[in-house]
Amino acid sequence: MTHGSCFVNFMEIKKIQDGNFEGKKVLVRADFNVAIVDGKIQEKFKLEACKQTIEFLATQAGTKIAVTSHLGRPDGKVKLDFSLKQLQGELEKILNKKIVFVSDCVGNQVSKALETLGQGEVLLLENVRFHGGEESNEEEFAKQLAENFDVYVNDAFSVCHRDQASVTGVAKYIPSFGGFWLQKEIENLDKVLKNPQLPAVAIIGGAKIETKLPLINLFESIYTHILVGGKIANEAIDQDLKFSSKVLLPIDFAQDRLDIGKKTIQIFKEIIAQAKVIVWNGPMGKFEESPFDKGTREILQAVIDSSAYTLIGGGESVQVLEENSLMDRVSFVSTGGGAMLEYLSGNAMPGIEVLR
Ligand code: 3PG
Repeated sequence: MTHGSCFVNFMEIKKIQDGNFEGKKVLVRADFNVAIVDGKIQEKFKLEACKQTIEFLATQAGTKIAVTSHLGRPDGKVKLDFSLKQLQGELEKILNKKIVFVSDCVGNQVSKALETLGQGEVLLLENVRFHGGEESNEEEFAKQLAENFDVYVNDAFSVCHRDQASVTGVAKYIPSFGGFWLQKEIENLDKVLKNPQLPAVAIIGGAKIETKLPLINLFESIYTHILVGGKIANEAIDQDLKFSSKVLLPIDFAQDRLDIGKKTIQIFKEIIAQAKVIVWNGPMGKFEESPFDKGTREILQAVIDSSAYTLIGGGESVQVLEENSLMDRVSFVSTGGGAMLEYLSGNAMPGIEVLR
């Protein structure tokens, strides 16, 4: 079967390499939505994702770059726990540029900061979700976001499933392009969907079976095996959901069904070892609590040991990979949790649609 609705015709997206940015003020939408505990940033991967885009723009004569993002869900209120200022130092290291922080993302503060921005410096605008108009995609707010800039670049694949002002609204007012990271995500996600080499194995875990069912059903039609673990396996069993023989649910569990059991781990590992393509989204158990991380860690080891093309996404999986310095052992790591699911499930992504 062909996976009809989902593929973005890659040629149709306006790409950053096709734009003219010389002398322009450019608003870059990144996704810096990272976990911060006691002021310590837990994952750097999302911060690094926009590097190529920023570097490219910085080489254009006279271009002024400002980066905008959300962090958490502050509900349209200024909450300093969610301030992007916390990322300033780390971004300076990653981008190797002076980052000038502006404590708002719209208005005079931004226009003045753009005027005085030095060569090689980058503006970091405050959390766009401090304004209620972001999540409700208020037209007036989107206009305000756009009015300080000539061009918009979206490099935040992982928020493209959100129809929000800094993702879709702003693109109505100024020319808009997809950044390098956004393009890379689309290319790699398409790769695992379009004529995958067989045997192809999807590993799907985490919570909320209703959000993962479309994905399981889709992979049932194009993949060899779908290995299901995590809370969704319990939900599928409890709801007596029926699948084809391609879908393997756990045959045993750790205590209180908080992880997949030893026999299941063994079966899953044997299937993974044969695979030519592996896609993984969602942990196999309550991995943040030892010993219920065993299933996730063993499956992860099997995936990184395999010679298959491997694609992993979802916040928790990325965290485990980063913590264990395993990012390089995977063919492609997606920044998208919800966005990856939406894309693979074939749902239209508003943030990508506006770039056509
Ligand atoms: C993510 O972390 O998946 C994205 O940044 C989207 O965040 P959201 O679910 O709060 O919109």
